[in-house]
Amino acid sequence: MSVRYTDLFRFAIAISLALLLSACPKDQIGLEDFPPMANDNPPGASPDALATASALGRGVNFDRMFEWTTVGEDFAGVDELIAKAQEGGFTSIRLPIRWSSHAEAAAPFTIDPLFFTQVESAVDRALAAGFYVVMNMHHHRQLDGDPLDGGEYAVAEGVVDVRFLSMWQQIARRYRNKSDRLVFELYNEPHGRLTDMKWNELIARALNTVRKSNPQRVVMIGSTWWNTAGTLAELRLPNDANLIVTIHNYEPFNFTHQGAAWISPPFPTGITCCSPEQQAQIVAPLDVAKSWSDANRYPIFVGEFGAYSTAAMESRVDFTRYARDQMEARGMTWAYWEMASGFGVYDNATHTWNVDLLNALTGN
Ligand code: BGC
Repeated sequence: MSVRYTDLFRFAIAISLALLLSACPKDQIGLEDFPPMANDNPPGASPDALATASALGRGVNFDRMFEWTTVGEDFAGVDELIAKAQEGGFTSIRLPIRWSSHAEAAAPFTIDPLFFTQVESAVDRALAAGFYVVMNMHHHRQLDGDPLDGGEYAVAEGVVDVRFLSMWQQIARRYRNKSDRLVFELYNEPHGRLTDMKWNELIARALNTVRKSNPQRVVMIGSTWWNTAGTLAELRLPNDANLIVTIHNYEPFNFTHQGAAWISPPFPTGITCCSPEQQAQIVAPLDVAKSWSDANRYPIFVGEFGAYSTAAMESRVDFTRYARDQMEARGMTWAYWEMASGFGVYDNATHTWNVDLLNALTGN
């Protein structure tokens, strides 16, 4: 009998200790808190993912709102832009968001409540207007190992990935009850520090995190090297059916980015479009993505394409129409980069459309 009582006593002590430990908040959050999903056998897209990819239709990126270090000047005009996007015939809005400039640098990496509310209000307004919304994580320079932008702050190197995952945990929890017209995109244009191997592991952890609060929501994932189609072959999707795969296509790059100050060295201006060679450059990545999509059974959304305002307008219009036709001929939906700044189809200052560009995007 006495042996049994001792055992019971030990058992009770062990249970109390375990309960005590689990009740104590951890001051450290590590990668082990975000285990990866398996990625050895992605099943292909579900009917929901296919329907969502198709319903994204013709989209437009809302730039300069949330992808800078401070909330953009255009946030105040979000209602106007939503109304205009609707008037222009767009069916989806891609909302690039620089979460990393609005979250604590150390655990638990809490996202600034005011910023969270502003983003949510834009998302809610776009959903209420009937749009599909692709909400992403954009520009997290340290995650890519790039030099920081002005206004960005560095966090300890050891927590960069954990912080990314923790931000997704917060975002996914907060938006768990939103309309299924809201799509999460895990990260814009991974590159540099995000090698294929690292990226494949990170998406397996991030999707698992998102799935805890959003078991069904459609999630968008692109491959490395700035979401170019050429790296799709290296992408290891997690074993999940509610996924859309995204690419960006800025080919011919020396045309679309001529004179762009953020490209070093800058391309000379004066390049026109679209010769047969340039058309082939536009189409090549689309063909790569189409073959990948057919073989892997996930749909493709071209989340960015466009030509900067330093190119001649006639050529921009030709490029845009040709790219649109070629994407649509391959069953791909898309979002134009972007609504109202350097590539803009709408002029925020004069409140007018660039009618030729708009027609090239959504006209006949
Ligand atoms: C970047 C923008 C850039 C655009 C075209 C986007 O992914 O966020 O800053 O203007 O690509 O280069």
